[in-house]
Amino acid sequence: MKAIVDRDLCIGCGLCEDTCPEVFRMGEDGLAMVIDDDPAAETYPDIEDCVELCPVAAISVAAV
Ligand code: F3S
Repeated sequence: MKAIVDRDLCIGCGLCEDTCPEVFRMGEDGLAMVIDDDPAAETYPDIEDCVELCPVAAISVAAV
């Protein structure tokens, strides 16, 4: 699984970094970035939480 952030939608709330810092980090521009394109399977539940919890639905996942 691979996480994707649509930076055109992200409003920089930071929830994804708080929930799954292994995969998401806030960039200097205040928007989230994906920092691991092939994250460990242990992080998948947290990534799914981020997909559901992002207030603007900016996070999606794709098969690697
Ligand atoms: Fe942005 Fe959503 Fe994360 S608004 S900071 S991608 S939780």
